[in-house]
Amino acid sequence: MTAPEKYKRQIAARLQASPDQINLYWKGRVALYALLKAMGIQSGDEVIVPAFTCVVVPNAILYLGAKPVYVDIHPQTLNTTLDHIKQAITPATKCIIIQNTFGLSCEVEEIITFARSSNIQTIEDCTHGFGGLYNGQPNGSYCDAAFYSTQWNKPFSTGIGGFSLVKNSELQTKVEAINAELISPSLKQRKVLSALIQFRKYLIHDSTYWTLLKLYRYLSKTGLVVGSSSDDELTTIQQPEKYFMSASEEQIKAGVKALPHLESDLALRKRNGFAYNDYLRTKGKWNYPDHVLSNHSFLKFPIFVKDREKFLLLAEKNKIRLGDWFLSPIHPVPENFRLWELQVADFPVAEERSAHILNLPTDTNNCERVLQFLEQHIDELIE
Ligand SMILES: Cc1ncc(COP(=O)(O)O)c(C=O)c1O
Repeated sequence: MTAPEKYKRQIAARLQASPDQINLYWKGRVALYALLKAMGIQSGDEVIVPAFTCVVVPNAILYLGAKPVYVDIHPQTLNTTLDHIKQAITPATKCIIIQNTFGLSCEVEEIITFARSSNIQTIEDCTHGFGGLYNGQPNGSYCDAAFYSTQWNKPFSTGIGGFSLVKNSELQTKVEAINAELISPSLKQRKVLSALIQFRKYLIHDSTYWTLLKLYRYLSKTGLVVGSSSDDELTTIQQPEKYFMSASEEQIKAGVKALPHLESDLALRKRNGFAYNDYLRTKGKWNYPDHVLSNHSFLKFPIFVKDREKFLLLAEKNKIRLGDWFLSPIHPVPENFRLWELQVADFPVAEERSAHILNLPTDTNNCERVLQFLEQHIDELIE
């Protein structure tokens, strides 16, 4: 069996799918682009997306000449709701993207039933939720297709990377035809990524986290290392050259090696997620409602702080590995939202949540230390 076959087989087993329903890519966003293209999304079409996502999601829609139509999120789940989605439907709506935010999916069956009855295609953005379950089924199982990310801080990592699950065989045939256009990553990109994977494994821990994170972000912005996003993706809506790239041998090898650890990593994240939720509830701070907890795989745990700069400095000083995901409705773009056809003021919940959010690590073996840190600074959190 070849390495890609083995990798697809491992992924498929986890998704209760068949290996020939899995497609591998250089990044998760590339998987999304291929899905949208295979669905025939083009100029004049509208695609519904949460107003609380990563900018590469609307980018993939815009690269095809279509229009991202944003919908607000629920303040307690950070996900879109069927009600919000219904209000955004027009005759031009061709696809709905729902998101598994931080590992939590909501109202999936309701949204899909509605979409099918309206003849609208669905994609689940499972970049945060590989391995997790929604009502007992693997995340991504319900929609026409789903895509996943294996970038640094995802449920398992291949440095950067992504794949899709396409259960609809007609759609899968179209995806395969589009995949014939994939280009291969260069030798330099592959070598740099391999070096970064090794570097991360040996050098990132609580005491080096902040310094190395800043260094990586700086170097990837300048293009000196293979980063999560290029400057082009964050400042323009032009598709970067060499965007449509296949997975490399090195990513596949890293994936095959990482996947056997997924189960124990998920269990750890879940334990920590529940511990944070219980603690914040006793303190009267923001926490997830009971009815969604069993569907959460807790890739990250969001907290909402009064003064983000101050709180980040406190975390850095105390060597707490806080994440800063979704600091804007189209993370990590800080301004010029109109370029992405987003009027932030129309999405007050997403605007308010993203203005205060930070994320607690759930992959830590020392959740007690994070809880102690929270206890010391609990007044800095909003409710
Ligand atoms: C919600 C969401 N969608 C899509 C992506 C894109 O994934 P990738 O970086 O693998 O392209 C990300 C990246 O973190 C994300 O957070």
